[in-house]
Amino acid sequence: MKQTSSSAGDSGGGTPREDKPAKGLADVVAASTALSDIDGRAGRLFYRGYDIHDLAGHVTFEEVAHLLQRGALPTREQLADYGAELTEGRTLGALVESHISEIAAKQAPMEALRTLVSLAGADDPDKESNAADANRRKAARLTAQQPVLVARYHAARTGADIPEPDPELSTAANFLLQITGRRPERREVEIFDTCLVLHADHTMNASTFAARVCAATLSDMHSAIVAAVGTLKGPLHGGANEQVMRTLEALDPRGVAQAVREKLAAGEKIMGFGHRVYKTEDPRATHLRRMSQELAEASGDDTYFRMSREMEEVVFADKHLYPNVDFYAATVYHYLGIPTDLFTPVFSVSRMSGWTAHVIEQHADNRLIRPDSEYIGERDQKWVPIDER
Ligand code: COA
Repeated sequence: MKQTSSSAGDSGGGTPREDKPAKGLADVVAASTALSDIDGRAGRLFYRGYDIHDLAGHVTFEEVAHLLQRGALPTREQLADYGAELTEGRTLGALVESHISEIAAKQAPMEALRTLVSLAGADDPDKESNAADANRRKAARLTAQQPVLVARYHAARTGADIPEPDPELSTAANFLLQITGRRPERREVEIFDTCLVLHADHTMNASTFAARVCAATLSDMHSAIVAAVGTLKGPLHGGANEQVMRTLEALDPRGVAQAVREKLAAGEKIMGFGHRVYKTEDPRATHLRRMSQELAEASGDDTYFRMSREMEEVVFADKHLYPNVDFYAATVYHYLGIPTDLFTPVFSVSRMSGWTAHVIEQHADNRLIRPDSEYIGERDQKWVPIDER
């Protein structure tokens, strides 16, 4: 691994190191990728060289998934072929079908997804192969399956009878249809589709790194995605969007500023703020804020949006921190009628396109990822028999 600030040095058989490792691998370049790039100072994000501001609202999630997994924005014909693969991939395998109700009864959403992705791997016809064409097919199937897994999980735990995915509808429209049980309006689909575009890939974030570490052992794509789902689950990563909504729900709308100041003074972290890489506004938050406001106004009750704005002002004034992707995603999903505990699963629906693209990229030019560590424990300890300790 290359460290952008100071070099990481050799561990040298137990001799003390002169340089300290970057805690949390901050500023360490852990892989080369042609998939996405961030300019943290300017607040810019690119997918294969396309600025996220040009993609959001102009291309669909399916086009972005094709861009990431297959290397280019698709022609109409390529998009139709990819769409057909996605339609086919929405059919769940026999193992998943036979276990989903039991899993839904026993596991929280992200735990359940971790289990279901693993089960889906057992059903996958390409499970024995890491070859490029098999990986491309698996990537499409995983991308197609993830929203259906989330919707079917939700249906199983609530006992709802949900519609089958409609082959004429997009990923975004099908998901909203299956989650809410009603045909979504055009603008709702456009907004949710843009959310999926915005969350698709984000360089070496924790879950993508986990996927690449697993893939670099030449393990298979489903194993890598299980690692990624487990990593996304944590509140410092994908779990933050759910926590943002829980914070908003717990706050008194008239006491937002004071409550947030008290939390900050007590050293509490406010979910949805701060970022390891962005030193200015996260470009995804700019779109999500706008969409949250639009949906709030259309709903006739913009309380949560106004509370979010107030939180944003206080956190900036006190800590100079900006909202990240999770902050306004929370209210967007809320206004779209998505249950709060499915917010992180929704993140995985989109990020599946990026994770799988990273696995393809890792397998195409692989080397085991095995960093070094700095030993900080005792030295020269003498062994003592158990009865004398
Ligand atoms: N609320 C309050 N303070 C925050 C904060 C937040 N959301 N995020 C960072 N800080 C503060 C830390 O307390 C720390 O302050 P200190 O130097 O006085 O101790 C400083 O900013 C650096 O934070 P740190 O956690 O070391 O930064 P990081 O680069 O390791 O972490 C995040 C980045 C995203 C994990 C972090 O900002 C965070 O925990 N945010 C909340 C969770 C979240 O929204 N995650 C989704 C990320 S997309």
